[in-house]
Amino acid sequence: MIFLGIDLGTSSVKILALNESNNIIGEITKEYPIHFPHDKWAEQNPEDWWGITKKAIRELMHKYNLPKDSVRAISFSGQMHGLVVLDKDNNVLLPCILWCDNRTEAECDDITNHFGTKNLRRLVGNKALSGFTAPKILWVKKNKPEVFERIEHILLPKDYLNFCLSGGFSTDMSDASGTLFLDVENRTWSKEMCEYLGIKEKWLPKLYESFEVTGVVSESVKAELGLQGEILVVAGAGDQAAGAIGTGTVTEGIVSVAMGTSGVVFAAHEVFSCDNELRLHSFCHANGKYHSMGVMLSAANSLKWWVEDINKGVSYDELLNEAEEVESGSGKLIFLPYLMGERTPYADADAKGCFIGLNMNTRRGHMTRALLEGVAFGLNDSLEILRELQIPIKKIRVFGGGAKSSLWKQILADVFDSEIEEININQGGALGAAILAATGAGHFKGVSSGCEEIIKVTNIITPIKTNCKKYKKIYPLYKRLYNDLSGWFKESSQI
Ligand code: XUL
Repeated sequence: MIFLGIDLGTSSVKILALNESNNIIGEITKEYPIHFPHDKWAEQNPEDWWGITKKAIRELMHKYNLPKDSVRAISFSGQMHGLVVLDKDNNVLLPCILWCDNRTEAECDDITNHFGTKNLRRLVGNKALSGFTAPKILWVKKNKPEVFERIEHILLPKDYLNFCLSGGFSTDMSDASGTLFLDVENRTWSKEMCEYLGIKEKWLPKLYESFEVTGVVSESVKAELGLQGEILVVAGAGDQAAGAIGTGTVTEGIVSVAMGTSGVVFAAHEVFSCDNELRLHSFCHANGKYHSMGVMLSAANSLKWWVEDINKGVSYDELLNEAEEVESGSGKLIFLPYLMGERTPYADADAKGCFIGLNMNTRRGHMTRALLEGVAFGLNDSLEILRELQIPIKKIRVFGGGAKSSLWKQILADVFDSEIEEININQGGALGAAILAATGAGHFKGVSSGCEEIIKVTNIITPIKTNCKKYKKIYPLYKRLYNDLSGWFKESSQI
């Protein structure tokens, strides 16, 4: 018996097979294109996802010699926030408007001006960001009224795959949280927000917890894929929540820090929590509880830019070794990591990357180290909000490409003044999805037991107290810089 986790990402779909002994026995990744038809737009064809997912399932079964009747359950991790709309015959009406599409700034302003922060907090627990689904609906209503008229179903990206597999219209609480029309605290659609957006109740998919069975794979799809036997379809989760399952970030007190292109600080907690200014995303978790999340847009990407673009020809190792020679604090040089604007704590598309404090003694090693420290300070901004909200932070788990550097992990431990845990597994969302599939099929008692079986801590990094002290002095200066420069960022963008 195997459980398949399908991770529908932005550039590729990854499928992972987990067996009954809780071992990962197969993985396959297949890419698909993103289309950028206009400035700020980003789209994909849902039919591409489905075509390529089918191919990937067939290849995975073939490559690892998996018997036709071995798949017991399938679940998903999905790129979040994208809008898929279907007509009455279940045809896709428009290319999916993706999470990274920024055409909806005006619609976000409309939502914010209409409700105000206090009501957004009460109704949906989050602020209107251009990546989210709600402003995309307003955009379609305004700019494609002929399409809006024909809408019969709204789905999130992974839920379109669920529909293709099972014929059902469903979503899960974690992914629905990123629509801005879910009442996150009460785990139900927000009538007030749906009414404002013009969403009819019958368009909405049925809400499930991430580990619940939503249906079974249809006979025709099984025939097409060469599969046999009953195959359960389990709701799955948004990619961040599924990724958190894949790192065991499921109990209150565990916080994960993903050091990918972007940086995500993800805290699991028991009860709903949301800050007054809505700086963090307050979403439902895939284990039936809640989570808070801060998103830094340029984390490992800052280092990639520094090494591969600015210091072309010099290796990562050489630059990181130079940085290791430099004392903590980088000779009072501070780096602001806003190379692609920022989301948390400042939702500011105009924010820019900066080195502040250069002098005649500044060497490349200082600049590399300042960059690593700046990213750590930026991630600490999200941890500070969690601390303010009194969300417990007992353990911090770091993973992702940036976590390969031991220097960077030590800097994170020192800036956070906290132990950092490393884990045995780096499969993220696809593994989280397979754990959800196995939980739905009854193989695990619950999501947490699945995580306990599979995810183990392999190393603990302890903070160096003298560095912590120093960073505690530098961090307020770092924090002040955004406020001092935000006017400049705005003006310079308008020139
Ligand atoms: C979460 C988010 C990303 C996307 C794409 O808020 O925007 O995780 O789902 O990966």
